[in-house]
Amino acid sequence: MQSSLRLGLAGLGTVGASVVRLLDRHGKDLALRCGRPIVLRAVSARDRTRDRGIDIGNVNWFQDPVKLAMDPSIDVFVELMGGASGPAEESVRAALETGKHVVTANKALLARHGNELARLAEKKGVSLNFEAAVAGGIPIIKTLREALAGNRVSRVAGILNGTCNYILTRMEQEQLSFGACLSEAQRLGYAEADPTFDIGGFDAAHKLALLTSLAFGTEIDVDSIYVEGIQSITLSDIEAADELGYRLKLLGIAERTETGIEQRVHPTLVPKASAIARIDGVLNAVSVDGDFVGRLMLVGPGAGGDATASSVVGDIADIARGTALDVMGRPSEHMEPYRPAGVRAHKGGYYVRLSVHDRPGALASIATRMAERGISLESIVQRKRAPHQAATATQSPADPQSIIMITYETTEAAIREALDRIREDGHVAGEPQFIRIEPL
Ligand code: HSE
Repeated sequence: MQSSLRLGLAGLGTVGASVVRLLDRHGKDLALRCGRPIVLRAVSARDRTRDRGIDIGNVNWFQDPVKLAMDPSIDVFVELMGGASGPAEESVRAALETGKHVVTANKALLARHGNELARLAEKKGVSLNFEAAVAGGIPIIKTLREALAGNRVSRVAGILNGTCNYILTRMEQEQLSFGACLSEAQRLGYAEADPTFDIGGFDAAHKLALLTSLAFGTEIDVDSIYVEGIQSITLSDIEAADELGYRLKLLGIAERTETGIEQRVHPTLVPKASAIARIDGVLNAVSVDGDFVGRLMLVGPGAGGDATASSVVGDIADIARGTALDVMGRPSEHMEPYRPAGVRAHKGGYYVRLSVHDRPGALASIATRMAERGISLESIVQRKRAPHQAATATQSPADPQSIIMITYETTEAAIREALDRIREDGHVAGEPQFIRIEPL
């Protein structure tokens, strides 16, 4: 058997502690599978005294993760601290500079600095593995980087944020408001204390940026992603979608189009019969369309200590076996610059919900504005009130009515222009809601 692979682990939160437990529990089997023992040599965390329920008594302690990253006693630096800059960035750079392999779960860091860090890893001849950064326990990085190497990918789409999927699922199943479901997610520890990152779509965007780069061989460009969160989704939208045969999901989508590669994160209506429509709660799912494989979908836990540790250790095992892969699946010099397709050029069907003043001609005027932009309507529904709202004695015929339309394929530019005209015509109260439909 070869010499041990020596690890230095920075960050002993939920994932870090699970990695220690996993190595402890499956160490013997891992050594057989990898042909050499994997040993935890040193750790770094903020609080040395905290009880984490793990035994690190025989492991060297470093207060400074950068010093750990540079220490000659380790071969692999495992970064589980998180954050796009600060100690995570400094220590990963230091590890690569000193010729250490790096395993990280840090999507924010890679979404911001991945191109540069990949070049550095390549220059130093070391691995930079990041399976745990996208969709927790789902091996989607390995799938794209290795298993699907023989395919030209046309689309990657996924439920990449468990918190959002939990909230949308609960709203639908229990007819609860967005706010109530968010509080519940926070209480159960799914959402961050400041949940903006999850519900605003930014966490999903970081993950999508990495998937796009792997799938299409383009440089990571997180700033080009069109991002819309789930804050504006109401129970009425979920109920109307249900009646019309759809379910609502926050999806991250990267797709090859005639004008470039679209990268979008937004609430999306998916047909109820589609596989992705059935992924509920905190689960994640990623669907990939490849020219030879067709469509496949991977489903699993997108977060949680043990599931994420499973991905981290898979990456460590690759290094132990000597599997050396280009960070983004091809040499950096062959990565193409990312050429964005503007979201206004996006083609697809749309769900539109308008709160319309109930007066003669309003509906005809709205339909005319749609027709002027060449938008054809597949269905149109007028609802007196959302079904979850009880009838009230005070409701009068003059109260705005909900008009819900499903369009056939059109462009985003056409929808936005039509909605601007409709707003100017003065028939609607409040802001129109529109949600993209994805034929998954
Ligand atoms: N906060 C993320 C989610 C998990 O809710 O999916 C870590 O990426």
